[in-house]
Amino acid sequence: MNLVPMAEILQKADEEGYGVGGFNVNNLESLQAIIQAAEEEKSPLILATSEGAIKYMGMDHVIGMVEGFLKNTDLPVALHLDHGGSFDAAMKCIRKGYSSVMIDASKHPFEENIAQTKEVVQAAHAVGVTVEAELGRLVGSEDEITVTEREAAMTDPDEAVEFVERTGVDCLAVAIGTAHGVYKGDPELDFDRLKAINEKVDVPLVLHGASGVPDTDVQKSIGMGIRKINVNTDFQQAFTAKLREVLADDPELYDPRKYCGPAREAMTEKVKEKIRAFGSNGKAW
Ligand code: 13P
Repeated sequence: MNLVPMAEILQKADEEGYGVGGFNVNNLESLQAIIQAAEEEKSPLILATSEGAIKYMGMDHVIGMVEGFLKNTDLPVALHLDHGGSFDAAMKCIRKGYSSVMIDASKHPFEENIAQTKEVVQAAHAVGVTVEAELGRLVGSEDEITVTEREAAMTDPDEAVEFVERTGVDCLAVAIGTAHGVYKGDPELDFDRLKAINEKVDVPLVLHGASGVPDTDVQKSIGMGIRKINVNTDFQQAFTAKLREVLADDPELYDPRKYCGPAREAMTEKVKEKIRAFGSNGKAW
């Protein structure tokens, strides 16, 4: 497959000071929406697939769809495993041609996280594949936790330096107050923490759980070293809201193309909005 390593996409973003979306692919229509948006906006592209999404679509189908798309585009594209939970999961993707993997051992203690990340980095770098890891934990937006627990789950700047040095990871996902899914209240990002991490760590930083975070906050975080911004829920909501609207307007509808088509268009518009907000429009090379 004619993919580029994700590190290349992030390096250029770092040099020029913009962010690139790590957009989750969950089915054919979401892939089409992301691709269409990136083509229209001339943006480099990071296609992210979680283990759950790969299981849902089937690994060979993911590869087949991405390969088919690559035949018809000149955009720089990375295919990335999102939140890989094990060495085996990462290796399976690398063997199939992925150009980037995330090993997420953030739920483990510091030393175990380092050990698991390092193992993946060694294997991935031997074949030119980028590795993302996570330090700190994104607590769920629905979790009932105290301020102290919230703080404890966030990335410690000094640990981040040690983690990057000892693992050799290419980019680091940080916990600074975002959460996956729908926020209950307003997300509160800890910019002081992000600034401190960015001053000490010299690899590109990654923001997970960006859905529901105001664009102005994401832009501020891009100014503080965030180079990859993960978005999934916002796109799913845009797709599903349109789908519901179309079905409600015409209860007789049964052809999936008639309701998935407009839903896909709604998602495309949302992806374009995010690409422009992150500043990667016009940055394809
Ligand atoms: P959201 O679904 O909250 O946008 O998070 C996406 C994500 O971080 C994927 O890793």
